[in-house]
Parts: sequence; structure tokens; C-alpha cells
Amino acid sequence: MTGPSPTAPPGEAIVDWYATAARDLPWRSPGVDAWAVLVSEVMLQQTPVARVEPVWRAWMSRWPTPADLAATPPGEVIRAWGKLGYPRRALRLREAAIVVAERHGGVVPADVAALEALPGVGTYTARAVACFGYGMRQPVVDTNVRRVVARLVHGHAEAGNARASDLTDIAALAPEDDARAVRFSVAVMELGALICVARTPRCGVCPVRPHCAWRQAGSPPHEGPPRRVQKFAGTDRQVRGRLLDVLRAADGPVDAAALDPVWDDAVQRARCLDSLLTDGLVEQTDDGLFTLPQGLARA
Ligand code: ADE
Repeated sequence: MTGPSPTAPPGEAIVDWYATAARDLPWRSPGVDAWAVLVSEVMLQQTPVARVEPVWRAWMSRWPTPADLAATPPGEVIRAWGKLGYPRRALRLREAAIVVAERHGGVVPADVAALEALPGVGTYTARAVACFGYGMRQPVVDTNVRRVVARLVHGHAEAGNARASDLTDIAALAPEDDARAVRFSVAVMELGALICVARTPRCGVCPVRPHCAWRQAGSPPHEGPPRRVQKFAGTDRQVRGRLLDVLRAADGPVDAAALDPVWDDAVQRARCLDSLLTDGLVEQTDDGLFTLPQGLARA
């Protein structure tokens, strides 16, 4: 095939579109290894690209291999996670690095089952690493991809809950050629991120508009309960973030009074501090002070 055409199968058209429209993101550069891909995918799970990029660069220069991260105390890792949010991901990533260092000879496994056995690595992340890190044909399905499939294949405005059929739906769209199938996995994700977006899809410039079941059905609106918009202000997540901010900025352990100013509601503040202790994101010293976990270098 020489280029995009309206009659190209949708998977091929998406790969051709990607060649012209992809964002130049550092974890997509040639030569980026599976460890760097794993770090990027864990960071990107719940955080926008623009916030991930500087933190990912700093992590990769500080911990270029799993063994480097595995040898680092957890508090340092939480500090370097900065304000990416959902900081338990940082601890899981460190635990995954320890497993890779101890059981996989320091090399991120390529096998999906072995990847899924790593802490913090689920269906999506395992396949993303196998595909983007090792060039293996794999269905890689995130929220954006599920929305593309819902519209393009099923004619629905939005995806329902995640289902096993998501993987087979996307595998059925992938080009036959293995190298193009690998590119398709990232291309369809990009289509969902840039064109087939949730609220105002840019159907006028969509490379698979002629194939889209949703367009053909007249773009019917979503039926059923509206999407939940996650709020942040006032949540425990916000309070936990502020407590961690204080500990990240401190040179050493701090007393409870240093944490009081972050939030007026003492009950909520105490609950959040408690949950951080339970999650292993904060430790209490023998003399009752609070600190990021010092831990041993290895768990
Ligand atoms: N490229 C590969 N994986 C990605 C992701 N999760 N988000 C954005 N770009 C990506």
C-alpha cells in the first residue's frame, strides 16, 4: 500500500495516520528499553503526558536500570515521584524493580504472564511493555482505546465497563503485518487521545470516519448514567497529597504540629495521615515523628 485511502482497512488507516500525527514523546523514541517503557506506563496510568514527561526524564537518568531503583530507599522514590499523584504507584514500581532485579536477572521480562506477576502491573501495563518495549504483537487497551472501539466497531458514544472482549475487538482491527500491528497498538491509543476524544471528537479529521459505526448511526448520544467526573478539591486524596508535600520538602522527620497547617479539618487530616501510614507511604519514628519511609535499601 502506498498511503492512506478511504478504502484501506481501519487498522491500516490508523497506522498511516499515526505516521503523520503522532506526538513526539520521549518514551516512544527508538532505543528506549522495556524498563523505561514500564516506568512511563506506570506514570501515565492516571496522569497526563505533560506532567509525566519531566518526572520520567529525571527518573530515567537517576535510575536507568531496575537494579538502580531496587537499591533505593522507598522515601527517596516517593520524593522523586513528586506531585504525579497516586503515590502508591511509586512504591509498587520500586517493588517491581526489586522482583526484576532478584528474579529476572535485572531484565524486565517480555512474557505477559511474567509481567502481570510484577507488583502494580495489570492487563494493560503488561501488554504495553511487551508491545512497546519488546515489539511484540499485543492488544493494548486503555480507556482511550476502549472508546475508539466502542464508536468505530460498536456504534456507541462511550465504552461500557472493561471486558475481556475489548482485547479481542482490538486484536481483530490490528494489521496482519507484525511490525504494523505493533505500531497500530500505539496509534489507536493516540487516535483516542487526540481525535476520538470523549467530549468533542474531531470526526472531521478522523482517518477512520468512513468506517465508523457511530458516525453511520448518526452519532447517537450516550445512553445511561453520565460519566463520573472525579473531583479532587476537599478529597482525602488532596489532603494526603498535602501531607506528603510537607514530608517531601523536609530534611528529616517532622512533628505532628508541622502537619497541622495543611488542612483545617483535624478528623480528616488524622484519617489521611493514618491511611498514609497504613499504605507505607509515611513512617512514624520511635519518638513519634513522621517521615517518608527510610526502609532498608531492599525490602
Ligand atoms: N505511548 C505509549 N503509551 C502511552 C501512554 N500510556 N500514553 C501516552 N502515550 C503513550
